[in-house]
Amino acid sequence: MKISVIGTGYVGLASACCLAELGHDVAGVDIDEKKIAMLKQGKSPIFEPGLEELLVRNLKSGRLSFTTDIEDALPGCQVLFCAVATPPNEDYTADLRAVFAVCESVARHTETDIVFVNKSTVPVGTGKECEERMGKVLKERGVKIHLPVISNPEFLREGTAVQDTLHPDRIIVGINGDTRARDAMEELYLPLTRIQHPIVFLSRESAEIVKYASNAFLAAKISFINMLSELCEKTGGNIRDVAKGMGLDDRIGTQFLHAGIGYGGSCFPKDVKALLAIGRKYHVPVPLIEATHAINDRQRQRFFAQLLDVLPKKATVGVWGLSFKPNTDDLREAPSVDLVRLLLKSGHRVRAFDPVAMDNARRTYPAGIDYVSSPLEAAEGVDAVILLTEWDVFRGIDLRETKKIMKGNDLFDGRNMYDPAEVEAAGLKYHGIGIGIGD
Ligand SMILES: NC(=O)c1ccc[n+]([C@@H]2O[C@H](COP(=O)([O-])OP(=O)(O)OC[C@H]3O[C@@H](n4cnc5c(N)ncnc54)[C@H](O)[C@@H]3O)[C@@H](O)[C@H]2O)c1
Repeated sequence: MKISVIGTGYVGLASACCLAELGHDVAGVDIDEKKIAMLKQGKSPIFEPGLEELLVRNLKSGRLSFTTDIEDALPGCQVLFCAVATPPNEDYTADLRAVFAVCESVARHTETDIVFVNKSTVPVGTGKECEERMGKVLKERGVKIHLPVISNPEFLREGTAVQDTLHPDRIIVGINGDTRARDAMEELYLPLTRIQHPIVFLSRESAEIVKYASNAFLAAKISFINMLSELCEKTGGNIRDVAKGMGLDDRIGTQFLHAGIGYGGSCFPKDVKALLAIGRKYHVPVPLIEATHAINDRQRQRFFAQLLDVLPKKATVGVWGLSFKPNTDDLREAPSVDLVRLLLKSGHRVRAFDPVAMDNARRTYPAGIDYVSSPLEAAEGVDAVILLTEWDVFRGIDLRETKKIMKGNDLFDGRNMYDPAEVEAAGLKYHGIGIGIGD
């Protein structure tokens, strides 16, 4: 099929490359000229395992192309995916300007019928509004073109985007009765449904809600265990043991039950906020979501406060990991963003190491950070080290060597990754999350 993907960020690029890999003819469109220039040369602008390989292979095969001009991607296009960003506004609502710009531009320029698929995460009712906006443009043009808007939310995780796109747990498609759009989606996803990945058709509104509900549920699970981590600290419990004891119950499960510095990234914080705004808009109380958000904030601040408490004046802190999670270079809402700013504002210095996110950090963070080329270099001469991202390279770190080269001896484990006894045996003072002192 002939497909266009508008927005070639983490979601759009993975979708475009994987759809081409599945045999479709795909045009990727982005307004960012630098990104498109890189993509045309087979270079991925983002770090995502396995993605560049797919990009190069499908460019070579001629199934994948890129352009900055949406008009190039419309002739002959059967299905168009909108995968532009929907970041949070100050009032927590989703900023939908890019989505509306794309749908209006499609309506303004297409000469043929196209199924418009919202892959961006958008609040319930957005598909309807897109359809209305497109209808208005078509009416002004005086043309009879069929542009159904359907919802196909994305569930990929950064770091495993290729695997998740080629092997999704489920494909959610929200359509309000348009059989031609349904046929198109069935045909498009045939290479995946053929190998038993389920496609679930539901109403457009339900599909829009599923996306926020899924992310908010996972975020709530994280906040639940983080809430209990504070209780453990006060009562002598150990949150790792509590999580294990709970998670072995099949009904609960072990995933997303790991206490730490709180969730970050480009999705959980923004989608939790958006769901709060949706509740507010429709006058529906969402106290679980409010608590999820508040606990996450508290968890981050609590941990930072502990660090600031032990630091001498004008200290140097070694930061291990900058990205919001391993295997990505994405810094959006990463704990490091807040921490680095806080440390610099408090008069401290920062030495940081991350295996892939340092180029992004140099562009994003304030000046005054020493970027170094290894975890041990980040620990050299520092008063404290704080682990923020559980990259593999930090798992195998030599703690005794770390202690030798540090000036101070405090290790803050923001991901509850190290064995406290092992850290203490290396001569370091361990600061974890949710570990109380028992009787
Ligand atoms: N990143 C994730 O892990 C993830 C997972 C699931 C869903 N989502 C959702 O997918 C959407 C995209 O997220 P992302 O992380 O890929 O964002 P991103 O910021 O990485 O990419 C968005 C891209 O859209 C481009 N763009 C903006 N306006 C445009 C326009 N008018 N025409 C063409 N291109 C335009 C930008 O230049 C950018 O390259 C969001 O709604 C997000 O919530 C993201």
